[in-house]
Order: sequence, then C-alpha cells, then structure tokens
Amino acid sequence: MAEIIAHKAKILGPTPASLDAAASALRAGELVSFPTETVYGLGADAANDRAVAAIYAAKGRPEFNPLIVHVADIEAVSAIAALDGVALKLAKAFWPGPFTLVLPRRPDAPISLLVSAGLDTVAVRVPRHPVAHALLQKFGGPIAAPSANLSGRISPTCADHVANELADRIALVLDGGPCAAGLESTIVRVARNQIHLLRPGSVTPAEIAAVSGLKVVRHQEEEGALSAPGQLKSHYAPSARLRLDALAPHEGEAFLAFGSATLDGTSRQINLSPKGDLTEAAANLFAMLRQLDQTGAPSIAVMPIPDQGLGLAINDRLHRAAAPRPSEKQKS
Ligand code: TXA
Ligand code: MG
Repeated sequence: MAEIIAHKAKILGPTPASLDAAASALRAGELVSFPTETVYGLGADAANDRAVAAIYAAKGRPEFNPLIVHVADIEAVSAIAALDGVALKLAKAFWPGPFTLVLPRRPDAPISLLVSAGLDTVAVRVPRHPVAHALLQKFGGPIAAPSANLSGRISPTCADHVANELADRIALVLDGGPCAAGLESTIVRVARNQIHLLRPGSVTPAEIAAVSGLKVVRHQEEEGALSAPGQLKSHYAPSARLRLDALAPHEGEAFLAFGSATLDGTSRQINLSPKGDLTEAAANLFAMLRQLDQTGAPSIAVMPIPDQGLGLAINDRLHRAAAPRPSEKQKS
C-alpha cells in the first residue's frame, strides 16, 4: 500500500508576502482558503478547469453544485455576466458585501464551465473583507469559491476550522481572524417582475425590496432543488442523446471516452482523460459535451466512469443529461 503523507496546510497571516504566495498558488492551479465577511472560502482560479475540478474533489461533493465567483469590484463583472437594470441597482447597493447575484452568464465568459455546473447562469459576489479584496487584487482575476468545508459539514468561520478539515487538500489558509457575519451570503436572482431569494442571508428581503421596488419571493433553485429532476430545465443539456456505459460508438455516434480507448482521430471522438484521472475528466466534462454536441451527432456514446470520488459527480451529471426531457420547447 502506498505510504500516506499528511501535508499540513500553512496558516498564514495576511501579510503582503503571504498574499503573494496565495496569488501564486492560485496561478499554479492550487487551492487557497481565504476569509470573507461571511465564511471562509475555498478558492481556485475560476478560469482554470482543473483547479475548479479540484474544489469539488477537495470538498468530496457527490454532485456538481455551481460555485460563487468572487471578483474585486463591479467593473470586473462585465466580462463574465450581464449586469444591468435591477440587478445593477442591487449590486450598487449591496456590494461589496454579503450578497450574491445569479446572473446570465456571457457565452464567452473567460471562466470554467464547471463553475456554473452546466447552468447558463453564474453566481457573482464582491466580498467586503479586506483580505478577500486584497487577494482578488493581487491575483487579478475571478476566484471561484464555495465555503471551505467538506460536503455536508458546516461552513468554517475561522482559519483553524478550515485547516482541521482540509489541510491536506489545499496550499494554504489566509488567516483573517473570525468571520464577522458567520452566515453565508444572501443569494438572489432577478426574475421578470420579482426577485427570487435563493438563499437567505444577512442582506434581508426587506432591504432588497426597498432597493429594487420589487417583491422578493423565496425560491428553491439551489442545492437540493438542483438535484430534483423537475428543476432541471435551466440546466445545459446537449441536443444529442447520451448513451451511457458504452464501450465503443455505434455508427454515426459521437464518442466520449475515458481511460484507455482507441479514437478515430476525428473531432467526433474525444477522451475525458486518457490516463483515467477523475479530476481531469471533471475539468473537461462540460466543455467536451458541448464540443461533441456541436458536431451535430444525434447521439453521444459515453464510456463508463468509475462511480467513486469525483466519478460520482460526473455520473450524476451524465445521468441527468441522459434523462428523457419532458419538453424540448420549454425555455427557462
Ligand atoms: O458567503 C458565501 O456565499 C460563501 C463565501 C465563501 O463567499 N460561499 C458559499 O458558497 O456559501 P457555497 O458553494 O457553499 O454556496 C453557494 C450556493 C450553492 O447553494 C449553490 O447551489 C448556489 O450558491 N449557486 C451558485 N451558483 C448558482 C447558480 N448559477 N444558480 C443558482 N444557484 C447557484
Ligand atoms: Mg457551502
């Protein structure tokens, strides 16, 4: 049996040197935990598929739950998502702060598709915490970050919590002391004539209603609801059918391989990870599904993916994409 080497993640005070180290680690595709005014985040370069996949692996999430993208200021949002009208009003009122907006994702947004877990939206937040802000400035790009806890555990509000749970999976923890809010950010989405409250937080419905002039209604779109098949209409689903657990493509089918496989060299056949690495496969999943869908093939044959570790999340997503669609005309 291979020897297990326990790495101790370094807990560093927020000095210029440790902020530099954190920014370099992010650039190298590593994970860094940083404080925000709500809870500690588990950050990765939002543009790096592999680093984003590593977040899911580190948290041990059995499914791809979309992540919040953190940016330094309102101006940094425009490259990623459409921010106008009521959403812009809310952003100006509550940013920087414990407030997250789910916005339409720009098709050319320079961030990983995995951040949105296949949705055509992206959650964005400008945190107020000085250490989070300093890190975003040093890094100079968007940072994808869920709360820095293992899946199913409570969100961490001090550096020790993070180190205790995730020490061996991350490069370092920036210690900004205990979080002031200790409660995750309020998440909203602007709908036609109302605001959907996806997760309550310290920015209240009354404050949101006052700024927007719209009614705020509780709406289950996140977490549990995303795994309910009825709620999947806003998920990206390929137009092609998916045929899972396929060992080889049938005539006319596109082919999504995993591990050792012989490909025909055309753009209709690609491999999620020739070396059978689940993090690499997760990093490639959404982009490769899109790529194969764009070939116009009526069906995509997908090789079996081991149902363990990140394979659970990959298979969860593949099964959803393969499920019969109630109505193809439905628009979100
Ligand atoms: O305070 C916070 O928001 C902390 C700090 C680190 O920023 N982050 C946090 O992230 O709580 P996380 O991943 O633990 O929770 C994010 C929630 C999830 O429930 C996810 O489903 C939802 O946001 N979410 C993210 N993107 C979404 C999207 N495009 N549409 C709907 N829900 C989304
Ligand atoms: Mg969380």
